[in-house]
Amino acid sequence: MSLNLNGSVVLAGAGKMGGAMLAGWLDRGLLPSQVLIQEPHLTGSALELAQRRGIVARATFGSETPPPAVIVVAVKPQVIDEVFPALAKLAGPETVVVSIAAGKTIASFERYLPAGAAVVRAMPNTPAAIGRGITGAVANSHTSAAQRANCEALLGAVGEVVWVPSEDLIDAVTAVSGSGPAYVFLLAEALAEAGVAVGLDPATAKRLAIATVSGAGELMHQSGIEPTTLRQNVTSPGGTTAAALNVLMRDGDGLRELMLEAVQAAQKRGRELGR
Ligand SMILES: NC(=O)c1ccc[n+]([C@@H]2O[C@H](COP(=O)([O-])OP(=O)(O)OC[C@H]3O[C@@H](n4cnc5c(N)ncnc54)[C@H](OP(=O)(O)O)[C@@H]3O)[C@@H](O)[C@H]2O)c1
Repeated sequence: MSLNLNGSVVLAGAGKMGGAMLAGWLDRGLLPSQVLIQEPHLTGSALELAQRRGIVARATFGSETPPPAVIVVAVKPQVIDEVFPALAKLAGPETVVVSIAAGKTIASFERYLPAGAAVVRAMPNTPAAIGRGITGAVANSHTSAAQRANCEALLGAVGEVVWVPSEDLIDAVTAVSGSGPAYVFLLAEALAEAGVAVGLDPATAKRLAIATVSGAGELMHQSGIEPTTLRQNVTSPGGTTAAALNVLMRDGDGLRELMLEAVQAAQKRGRELGR
């Protein structure tokens, strides 16, 4: 899918997530001349990309910069209040601000922008680094359909995009997909540890667990078959998988209850951090 953006993008912060997005944009055909990178110490792959593709990168941009179509804020949440006031001055009447900073509310950007400015708050996840992320996003009421389409094109360059209807759901998105990759990595760790406990050597157990978790994820992704169906397809009555699932799906203390508790804990923490 090619990325057709009517205008330019200012990317503030080209670290892990900003750098991954930048790579995705250029891969999908965004012209280097359409991007300005604001980053005090450009390093790593983003530096290499900027140098190779001739992208302008500076510590700050001033009032001589024409208003971009989109300002993407990908700096750490702790520095937003230091970075954003100057960045907000680059915005014109048609600019939409997209923030991926965890916990930073739409209001915390609106306060530095003229009344009626378009702001989108988004929560990507780490598989964005390989173009397989998913981002949950919410737009304020001033965001037009064209601005939303620009945001979706930029966020969609590193994976899927899902819009949620209200900002309070961003904590739920964070709890499911933002933090979710860590739950899956833990699953691989726990499976490997259990493999050692039942007699495998650690290297073999790790190899089996990693390939199983990533292979099952890829099968689910590529086949498009519902997880419930895939699970049922590998479970014969009275067999080994059924024996394990009887434990994992036990009423009261099974994986579903544990996952619910974990996701609720993440949502609650998100709400506390966003206050
Ligand atoms: N990584 C994820 O999985 C993930 C998921 C969802 C949301 N996010 C959000 O994405 C944002 C970036 O996270 P990250 O993991 O990519 O962090 P990161 O790798 O530390 O990237 C942040 C970048 O911003 C740069 N920066 C600092 N001050 C700046 C300034 N004044 N102007 C422009 N750039 C500046 C940093 O440079 P220095 O290193 O030199 O300070 C760094 O390169 C965060 O707000 C985070 O909440 C990340």
